[in-house]
Amino acid sequence: MPEISTSASPEIFYRKSGSGPVLILLHGFPESSDIWRAICDDLSASFTLIMPDLPGSGKSVLKGDTSISQMAGCIKEIMDHEDIDKAVIAGHSMGGYVAFAFAGMYPERLAGLSLIHSTPLADDEEKKKMRRKTIELIRNGGKEAFIKQMIPNLFSASFKQTQPEVVEDEIIRGLKMEDAGMINFYNAMLHRPDRVNVLKNAATPVQWFIGMEDNIIFYKKILELCHHSHINFVYLYNNCGHMGMFEAPEKLVAGLKEFVHYSYDHANELR
Ligand code: MLT
Repeated sequence: MPEISTSASPEIFYRKSGSGPVLILLHGFPESSDIWRAICDDLSASFTLIMPDLPGSGKSVLKGDTSISQMAGCIKEIMDHEDIDKAVIAGHSMGGYVAFAFAGMYPERLAGLSLIHSTPLADDEEKKKMRRKTIELIRNGGKEAFIKQMIPNLFSASFKQTQPEVVEDEIIRGLKMEDAGMINFYNAMLHRPDRVNVLKNAATPVQWFIGMEDNIIFYKKILELCHHSHINFVYLYNNCGHMGMFEAPEKLVAGLKEFVHYSYDHANELR
C-alpha cells in the first residue's frame, strides 16, 4: 500500500495510507510511526491510516518542551489539516497517554479510543523516581546503555527467544532517537495527570489490548480499570508483552478492524 509522508506544520509529520474510515495510530516510546510497519498494510486495506511521528521522533521536530497535552493538540492539528471531523485513535503505551489527553480535550472529535498496552493512570512515585534517574543517565551520555536494557524488557520471554532479531532491530531503531527527544518524552510522561475520569466520561467505545507478560503496563491493574467506561472491548493475550504489533500482529489487526467498524457504526447511530 503506497504511503504519503506529509506535515500539518513544520513540526509535525505523519504518514498516510489507505482509504475508508479514519484510524489514527499513535506510537509509544522510544519509537516513531515506523513501529506500525508490520500491520499497516493490512489495516490500510480497510481504513485511512494516519500515523504521526510525535514531536522529537522520526521526522517531527522537537521545538522545546512538549507535554502529552500539547502532543494531543498536534493530533487535532493533523485532523484539521486533513479535514477529518471524527477519528478512531489507537495509542500504543505513551501514544495511549496522548490518546487519553485527546479524549479529554476534544471528545467531539473522537469516534473510538483504543489502548494498546496503555493506561489512564499517572506514574506512581516509584516510576517517577525511575524516570528522573533515567533522564540523568541520558544527560550523562548513557542513552545506549538505557536503550539496550529497556527494549528487551518490552517483549515476552518466549518472543525474545524465538525472534531475537526483532528485538535487536528495535534496539537499533530506538538508538536513533536524539537525547533531547528522549528526555522530553520522559518528562512529558512523568508530568502527565491521572485520566481515569476521562475514561469514566468517555462517550465513545473503548478498546483494550492487554499483554499478560507486559512488564510496563501490568495486566491486573488494567483489568481493574477497563470496566469504567460504558462500552468496552477487552482483549487479554497470554505469551504477549508490551509489543502486540510484533508479538500478536494478526490478533491486533483483527481486533482493531472489529473495533473501528463498531465505533463508526456507533457514532452514526448517535447522529
Ligand atoms: C512506551 O512504551 O511508550 C513506554 O514504555 C511507556 C512508559 O514508559 O510509560
